[in-house]
Amino acid sequence: MALRSRILLTAAASVLCLPAAVGAGAQDTAEDGMLLFNNACRTCHSVNKGDNRLGPSLAGIVGRPSGSIEGVNYSSALADGAVTFDEATLDRFIENPDAVAPGHGMKPFGGIRSPEERAAIIAFLKAPS
Ligand code: HEC
Repeated sequence: MALRSRILLTAAASVLCLPAAVGAGAQDTAEDGMLLFNNACRTCHSVNKGDNRLGPSLAGIVGRPSGSIEGVNYSSALADGAVTFDEATLDRFIENPDAVAPGHGMKPFGGIRSPEERAAIIAFLKAPS
């Protein structure tokens, strides 16, 4: 393929991708979020209630006060509702946990830079499991 048309195709693809991601239905977004969750969070977290691993279960996390699962040994940064995980706070926490809860114990976790990926993970966490 001629280089010029290859460049044109690449440009067209990147222009098309963005609205597709933004305009995707809630279901598609949650499905993307499940894959992203599996890659970035599942080593330490489950979304099943009562399934606490290295990190606490994230069942019903959206809207939940931090540190609210009985029996989990939270850091003082998250214990006893130090933070309420509404969507905006959760978004910031996943981007950079230090910004929301300095001294947290969610390590090693580097944060997720992409706003689209964070939104998809949050959509997945909001979806009934
Ligand atoms: C390396 C293991 C690890 C990874 C990876 C990880 N976490 Fe955590 N997470 C933890 C631990 C441990 C805690 C408890 C931290 C504390 O007490 O300070 C935690 C706490 C949390 C909390 C607070 C829960 C509560 O009940 O207060 C949320 C929300 C959370 N993680 C979301 C995520 C999301 C979303 C991802 C993926 C984008 C993720 N975590 C990736 C280990 C991890």
